[in-house]
Formats: sequence, structure tokens, C-alpha cells
Amino acid sequence: MASYEDQQIVEVAAKLKARLERAEDKRSVLRAPELSALYDHLKTLPAGSDRAAFGKEVNALREELERLVRETVQPKKDLKPIDVTAPFDVNAKLPQLLSVESGSRHPITKEIENIVEIFSRMGFEAVESRELDDDYHMFSSLNFPEDHPARDDYDTFMTEESLVAPAHTSTMQNRVLKARKKDLEAGKGIRVVIPDRVFRNDDLDARHEHTFYQLEGVYVDKGVSVANLIATLQTFLETYYSRQLKVKTQPFYFPFTEPSFEFAISCPFCDEKGCHICSQAGWIELLGCGMIHPNVLREAGIDPNTYTGFAWGCGIDRLVMMKYSVEDVRYFHSGNLKFLRQFK
Ligand code: DAH
Repeated sequence: MASYEDQQIVEVAAKLKARLERAEDKRSVLRAPELSALYDHLKTLPAGSDRAAFGKEVNALREELERLVRETVQPKKDLKPIDVTAPFDVNAKLPQLLSVESGSRHPITKEIENIVEIFSRMGFEAVESRELDDDYHMFSSLNFPEDHPARDDYDTFMTEESLVAPAHTSTMQNRVLKARKKDLEAGKGIRVVIPDRVFRNDDLDARHEHTFYQLEGVYVDKGVSVANLIATLQTFLETYYSRQLKVKTQPFYFPFTEPSFEFAISCPFCDEKGCHICSQAGWIELLGCGMIHPNVLREAGIDPNTYTGFAWGCGIDRLVMMKYSVEDVRYFHSGNLKFLRQFK
């Protein structure tokens, strides 16, 4: 233990050592006003040997206190290493920064639940698609001939093993038909909706994303007609938009349906008068649909002479954009909280 000559320093040393024993925060002793007062006093002394001796003792006291603090504040040797890059305190049991309240379900997720609920009331069951598929389900099972130019409309991402990120939910048609063929034979129609994520090699703009959601629908039974197709889609859309709508179909081409249609609704925002949402047309082309091609039924082992059916594919992001007047599809995957909080 150091001993000091200067009476003032002797007193401060005794006081601070006593305080060190009691203090919870041992380091606070190093910031004690008594210690800085000694330094202040040092500055007032005239240059000379007294000042040098006093300065030496004050420094010695400071060093002694630092050593005592070091000895009493033992580092805990049993602390586990921590990941300083973790987004929360890894030593705490629960994440500290991300509170439950700040999250919410994504607007697309909520709307998918809403859509599935409407269709389930109409007797449809929901099935998931997949995010990696093969050429057979993407094209061949859907009656796309080899090298047919219609394949170009579905340019998508591929793995080195030639698996594809599905460009449409129609990839599930063959699976659904095959799996439920026995229902048909038991006298029960096939009624399935497939809401899921799809991927396209698209140029991005306010209406196009490389990743978006589709809702596929498949209905097969004895005696199913275009009239059933139109009535089903009209009922769904009127329920979804909570208003009466006019609908119309125009001929189109898809390899997997015959006949094929583009399905349009009267603009729910202007009642056909023309507005910015329908690009002044009064009508909005919403989806592709048609009667399932006999080759698609045959490929799944279903006899097209006994059973007929319809199918459709519709962009979910598009439905949601129209419902809430969202002007840019890219908001959905932007992670922009200002946007997302509006749907909480
Ligand atoms: N798969 C088509 C697309 O993504 C949409 C579609 C059209 C699906 C007609 C269908 C259908 O089931 O019958 O462009």
C-alpha cells in the first residue's frame, strides 16, 4: 500500500479507499470530485520542487486507485462468446429489439386468406404449389408441344439441373387431377384453388415483378360448361370487391384450354365510365381461363368424353392492387414499412 507525505493527499486517499469498499460502481471512485480537486490544486502551486512532489503523489494515488478498482472488478471468466453482429442481444433470452407488436401479416398473405375463404364457401379446397418444378409440369403435361412458341411467354428462372421456378400455378393442374381422379370416380367433382408464388423473367415496372402470386382454379365434373366458369368467376369477383360487376369474355389462346378466354370485369372504380385504374377503358382484363383441354385431362388419366372442366389463372397482386388502389406492384416486396403499416 502506498503511503503519502502530503496531508491533503493522505486524507483524500483514506476517504476514497473507504468509498471504494462501499461503492456499487467501483469505477465511480476514479471520477470522484476529491481527486479532481487535487489536480485543480496542483495547477495553483508555483512551479518548483513542491509542485513536482505534489504532482507525483497525486499521480501515485490515481494509479493506486486504478489498481484497486481493477482488482475488485474481476472480469467474469465464464462468459460465453457473443455474436456482435446479431440483430439482438444474444445474452438475453428473448430478442430485445424486435417486438412482436411491430410485425404484421403481409397484405398479400391476408388477401390470400380472404380469397381462399370465399372459394371454400363455394366448395373449393386450397392446395399449395411449389417453388421449384420440372419441364413436364410446366409445359408437357399442359399440352405445350416441344419447341412451341407459346413456351416463350413463360420464360422463367432455371437451375443448372434444368429445374424451373414455375412461371404459373398451372404447373399444379396435372398433379391435382391425378390425385383426385378417384374422387371423380366416386361421383365427387374436383374443385381446387392453388394460390402461390410464381416467377418470370420480366422487365420490372409498376405492373410487372419477377416474383408475384397467382390463383389457379380447377373444376372438373360431369357436364361442366363455360356457363359454370363464368358464373363461378363472377360470383368470386363480386364477393371480393363487394359490388355487382359486369363480366365479359373474349377469345384467347392457351395450349391447356379449349376454348380459351380472357376474362374482363367492368371497372369497379368507375362503373365503365373510364378512370385511371382501367386506363379509361371502363373494363379491366383480369385473368386467363377456359375449358380444360382434352389432352390435359387425358394426360392425368381422366376420360374427356365423360368429364369436362374449366380452369383459370389470375394474378393475386393485381387483384389486391385494384382493391386498395396500390399504384406500383413493387411495393409488395420492397419491405417498405410505410407501405406495409397501412394494411395492419
Ligand atoms: N397460366 C396462365 C398464365 O399464367 C393463366 C391461365 C390461363 C391459367 C388459362 C389457366 C387457364 O388455368 O385455364 O398466363
